[in-house]
Amino acid sequence: MKNPRATMTTRKMLVTGAGGMVGSYAKEVFKDCRLILTDQIDGFAHLDVCDPSAVRKAVADEKPDVVLHLAAATDVDRCEQDPELAYRTNAIGTQNIALACQAVDAVLVYVSTAGVFWGDKREPYNEFDVPRPANVYGHSKLAGEHIVTSLLRRYYIVRAGWMIGGGRKDKKFVGKITRLMIEGANPLRIVSDKLGSPTYGKDLLAGIHRFLKTGYYGLYHMVNKGTCTRYEVALEIRKILGRDDVEMMPVSSAYFPLPAPRADSEAMRNLKLELLGLDGMRPWQEALREYLTGELLPSLTSLR
Ligand SMILES: NC(=O)c1ccc[n+]([C@@H]2O[C@H](COP(=O)([O-])OP(=O)(O)OC[C@H]3O[C@@H](n4cnc5c(N)ncnc54)[C@H](OP(=O)(O)O)[C@@H]3O)[C@@H](O)[C@H]2O)c1
Repeated sequence: MKNPRATMTTRKMLVTGAGGMVGSYAKEVFKDCRLILTDQIDGFAHLDVCDPSAVRKAVADEKPDVVLHLAAATDVDRCEQDPELAYRTNAIGTQNIALACQAVDAVLVYVSTAGVFWGDKREPYNEFDVPRPANVYGHSKLAGEHIVTSLLRRYYIVRAGWMIGGGRKDKKFVGKITRLMIEGANPLRIVSDKLGSPTYGKDLLAGIHRFLKTGYYGLYHMVNKGTCTRYEVALEIRKILGRDDVEMMPVSSAYFPLPAPRADSEAMRNLKLELLGLDGMRPWQEALREYLTGELLPSLTSLR
């Protein structure tokens, strides 16, 4: 068996879904690793995680020490409308990756989601709360978690929250609201009845990088510190942009009907990391400021 405590400089890591929001930080964060960056989109070594023989061959050929499995169907509404896509990608795709890891004794890092919880807990969810997903996406990601725990011994399942990141390609909440403010939309109506824990993709990968060295396999929450509503995130964006002129109107989620039900709370706490004394995640406001000023705004102005 390979030594799980081998230093990161000797590690070879295969990344799936490397072209996505979180994967875009892999090169910067894991610069001490030999990386094989795969995705189904152009610009990466082609690997469709739904293809069992292609996955088995890619992992057997490369023999990575670690597989960082980020590939997923992440559009929550599309998953609701096309459950087979969700289960094929998030459950069977994860099974293909886990079996390939088993064959070469690679450590698997599977990034999961706060969407595994129902959302009626008043306090932030921790790792000891029992999951009960509210939509197909959450069910398919939880199925992936169960597959990983049943097939492997050397794994990290890392649940993240509302993702921040992606820069120029950011189509998520932070990217949308920032663009609207810059383009002069006023007033803005923002949902104020859903709670979550923002998670900067770069902080998530940096946290995984630190934690990989421990060999403390298992399930962890890894979100930036603090919880908030979407409305509070938008207020913070307005503050960072210095746009007090933009009027912000809190609205109920019923104002923007969507195909997939959303949990009232996806707020999480990194309780296991805290108990181990290893929670290095900073407050979400700090992470958001760094993302906006260091990454998103420069990428938007360079497009003009
Ligand atoms: N985004 C969030 O808010 C969030 C929150 C918590 C946890 N997570 C989890 O974090 C991980 C990374 O998410 P992300 O935000 O980086 O997602 P993302 O931006 O949607 O990136 C996922 C990447 O995987 C690719 N992909 C999809 N199906 C694939 C397949 N069959 N084979 C190979 N690649 C495939 C996607 O390509 P296409 O663009 O062509 O589909 C995309 O490039 C996922 O496991 C996700 O469930 C995300």
